[in-house]
Amino acid sequence: MSWVEEFRAHEAIYRRAPSAHNTQPWTLEYRADEIVIGIDPARALPGSDPGGRDLRLGLGAFVETCLIVAADAGLSVTYDSRRLLAAPSPYVTPFTAADVSARRVARGAYRPGVVSTAGLEPGLVHVPSRDLADDLAVADRWMFSTPRVALELRDWLRLDPGDPRYRLDGLTDRALELSRGEARVLASALRAYPVTRRLGLAALLAASGRNLLRYDGSVLVLTGDVSLDAGRRLLRTWLTLGRSGLAVHPLSQLLDCPATAARLAARVGATPLAVFRVGVPLHEPVRSARRP
Ligand SMILES: Cc1cc2nc3c(=O)[nH]c(=O)nc-3n(C[C@H](O)[C@H](O)[C@H](O)COP(=O)(O)O)c2cc1C
Repeated sequence: MSWVEEFRAHEAIYRRAPSAHNTQPWTLEYRADEIVIGIDPARALPGSDPGGRDLRLGLGAFVETCLIVAADAGLSVTYDSRRLLAAPSPYVTPFTAADVSARRVARGAYRPGVVSTAGLEPGLVHVPSRDLADDLAVADRWMFSTPRVALELRDWLRLDPGDPRYRLDGLTDRALELSRGEARVLASALRAYPVTRRLGLAALLAASGRNLLRYDGSVLVLTGDVSLDAGRRLLRTWLTLGRSGLAVHPLSQLLDCPATAARLAARVGATPLAVFRVGVPLHEPVRSARRP
């Protein structure tokens, strides 16, 4: 059996890599002695990610996930120019396929407590969660009142367990920790979106997330240039935190909304690439959907 075939046997694990809106935008072309990694444009997010920041980070996170899974399987694999290739020795990483399987985003309440950046990847800046609470409300309101962003989010929401894509991709009501009632309200508001926007219901929807940062907790901001390498750092950071029992919840709307992005950049003194809450979740988060 070639290394490509052996690696492919672990596909269900490396597909656990995170991606914005859980679009899983990567494509894999299995060849005799290499695997070409590409992007499916139908799974990009031109409305909310016009610059491709999250796409690039997600691709980096996927590559890092592949290298960890390959190393754990004893396969010597490296990454170069959009390809996974045979290497002289396995990728050196402290992480395992079990870490990849256990990783998940947690969007519910966290236990109060501040997290240290010691031992984490370079380029991470700590911000007390309360300091960003007002800006999160601004960013949420912006997100729901900006049609290109709200309508794209609608496309990737899976709020009805009867949706044929419920177990394949996107964001389910359970992943978003919504009650059945909340999911129904959100679904009908987004279905009638232009009307709900005019009526100002967008702001009401946005208010639901307002208290998410009003506790004594931590937000970490990954800074640097948008690159595949930054996505690899992001994934390693999430796995390191996960090993300490800490979950993450990205809040990319803080970067997508121009006003809050500018304030965050000024605050951290660098270009913010990813911003996420970190802490011990009060409830066990659900396992997100994946395409086979
Ligand atoms: C670059 C990037 C940006 C993300 N932004 C957000 C976000 O703004 N809000 C959110 O709830 N999740 C965000 N996520 C998390 C994804 O929605 C999540 O990875 C996906 O739904 C799969 O779930 P899992 O990570 O629990 O397996 C982001 C993930 C990545 C890689």
